[in-house]
Amino acid sequence: MLMREDGPALLPVYATFPLRAASGHGSWLVDETGVEWLDAYGGHAVATVGHSHPDVVAAIAEQSARLLFYSTAVPHAGRERLAEVLARHAPGALGKVFFCNSGAEANENLLGLARRKTGRTTVVTMRGGWHGRTAATLACTDGAKYEAGALRAGVPLSRKVPFNDLAALEAAMDESVAAVLLEPVQGFSGARTATVEFLEGARALCDRFGARLLFDEVQCGVGRLGTFTAAESFGVIPDALSMAKGLASGLPMGAVLAQPSLVDDLAIGDLGSTFGGGPVVCAAALANISVIDREELLENVRRVGAQLRAGTEAMPHVRRVHGRGFLLGLELDLPAAEVQRALWALHILTGTSTDPQTLRLLPPLSLSSDEAALLLDGLRTVLSA
Ligand SMILES: Cc1ncc(COP(=O)(O)O)c(C=O)c1O
Repeated sequence: MLMREDGPALLPVYATFPLRAASGHGSWLVDETGVEWLDAYGGHAVATVGHSHPDVVAAIAEQSARLLFYSTAVPHAGRERLAEVLARHAPGALGKVFFCNSGAEANENLLGLARRKTGRTTVVTMRGGWHGRTAATLACTDGAKYEAGALRAGVPLSRKVPFNDLAALEAAMDESVAAVLLEPVQGFSGARTATVEFLEGARALCDRFGARLLFDEVQCGVGRLGTFTAAESFGVIPDALSMAKGLASGLPMGAVLAQPSLVDDLAIGDLGSTFGGGPVVCAAALANISVIDREELLENVRRVGAQLRAGTEAMPHVRRVHGRGFLLGLELDLPAAEVQRALWALHILTGTSTDPQTLRLLPPLSLSSDEAALLLDGLRTVLSA
């Protein structure tokens, strides 16, 4: 992501891909000249069921025409139904739901709930972790640039430990720790993946020290690993988890799913959001989840994800394939940005990561086996050149 071609009135904070978006369908993004790009970036893990899936579009249109918005001051069936559907799709007792508008906001609420419940402030997070751009989530994100933002806001930094290092995590734990916050598969750092032993150990340490275990599933949740939640993929149940990106397949939405024991003493006014759980985003999320179920996309992610893994593992310059399902990090022996640029020439979009040698694949969950074969052909062409 090296180019920057946004309009002059926009703050110049985003590097951009070399196209201008006009429309999209399924795994394809169409530019203003009519060229179709295979989207293995998935609009940054947002286009869960593919771009502009007709069911999601229809649900948004229908709900918009009936009632665009009303606040949480008035109960709404769609909001209640979505919370029930999420609770049914989550493992364990993660059945208490709060809606907000983004990943960072969902993580803010996770942290707030854990601090409130424990009466403690310290948070332990992982090297390589990425949790958002609000002050509290910047404090938990790895990287001096992000931590500086939190320090400027006067927010204390989290204690950071190496990912998958249980001894380091144990050394960081004490009676001041409110929570351990982590991504089971770290998105931005290139799909670095927790071991089951590490997550089980983190669960046990949190229980031992009276801290809460929080999963940031903003990027790795909503089916991306081939199970609806990442927690289920690893068989470890946190006290709460966050979702966002792929939840409404394109509309901004965040959610917290919590165990009752974390939220049993909440009273009116303790949390809130004007737009959170509005009728249109809830209709989009309900349609999104029903497409995931009806089109058996979790099974698709497991099957086509295995095809992508096997195909990429056999390619030249690929040292190792990180991640699970449709959140894969190809660790290369050359700069990932060069490969990303070479793929642009073939009209294929991929992601980079904070590791300069890791290319990220995060396509819509609906990517077909034939589309995966096209992606693999493109990668093979570029890596063999
Ligand atoms: C793991 C993770 N957490 C949190 C966020 C922040 O989400 P948002 O940009 O919706 O605030 C992101 C965004 O990339 C993410 O990947």
